[in-house]
Amino acid sequence: MEKIILDCDPGHDDAIAILLAAGDPRVELLAITTVAGNQTLPKVTRNALSVCAIAGIRVPVAAGVDRPLVEPQRVAEDIHGDSGLDGPALPPPAFELDGRHGVQVIVDTVMAHEPGTVTLVATGPLTNVALAMRLRPAIVERVKRVVVMGGAHTRGNTTPAAEFNIAVDPEAAEAVFRGAWEVTMVGLDLTHQALATDELHERVRAIGGEVSGFVLDVWEFFGETYRTVFGFRHPPIHDACCVAAVIDSAVFTTAKADVRVELRGEWTRGMTVVDFADVPAMRHGSSPGDFRTEVALELDWPRFADLVVGAIGRLSASA
Ligand code: RIB
Ligand code: CA
Repeated sequence: MEKIILDCDPGHDDAIAILLAAGDPRVELLAITTVAGNQTLPKVTRNALSVCAIAGIRVPVAAGVDRPLVEPQRVAEDIHGDSGLDGPALPPPAFELDGRHGVQVIVDTVMAHEPGTVTLVATGPLTNVALAMRLRPAIVERVKRVVVMGGAHTRGNTTPAAEFNIAVDPEAAEAVFRGAWEVTMVGLDLTHQALATDELHERVRAIGGEVSGFVLDVWEFFGETYRTVFGFRHPPIHDACCVAAVIDSAVFTTAKADVRVELRGEWTRGMTVVDFADVPAMRHGSSPGDFRTEVALELDWPRFADLVVGAIGRLSASA
């Protein structure tokens, strides 16, 4: 079983990531920590608890940091709505938040398990992860790897250069990519392949039940904002791709790269500058050891879709 901590900012696609992590038997969801991102910390934290309530998930949930390290706070109300999870009915929390700070929960959970056994999945801005590195530096060598939904090696979605999770907190992201741990970067070039197509809608609808209905309501709202804002025919389930990669390493291909986050560019701040190891001409002074980040490239969509449908089916059967 793959043990994971899910640091997230629910968020419509974060909600699917939570369901996938809880609904696949190959994953042990150790804790959910929340970070300000798609909406404010109170809103994303309540959303995380509501998703747990709908799916009968009972794991420690802890609120993390409520703003970026340096960058002024921004939210994505145009995509996720005023609540951060507009569309579906959101039930009240079924249990209390963990009494600890989310950053503390990350540190405690990693330190409580054998070295190399816990994967940190981050699907929001990287503020919590960066602070956990500073609160307890030992987690960097102890974590199995960090799987980040963020960045892009072609174009952004928040500026032409920057993807939202990185743009919200570029300093935190740079700290994470400079850390001496294995990072898998699941950027927009990959997640824009992970579309909630009509076929996927029909497969989820066929499951029936409350969890299935919740997912369809999530995709209806998310699909509408993605059509309106980005002209997408179907919404990309960005964050679920990270959990899918923990479950099945063949769900997408990757290539080694050196990834740096631009912090000073007037037009490029928050850009992930991806220097793929197989293109020596593009070196920007990195040493071979820097090429530690695995950058996700091509999604096996049928494999991904099967994971999502399977998890929702299991949660529906047990709800
Ligand atoms: O750019 C997409 C990412 O930003 C996703 O994680 C989405 O939930 C938002 O956090
Ligand atoms: Ca997210």
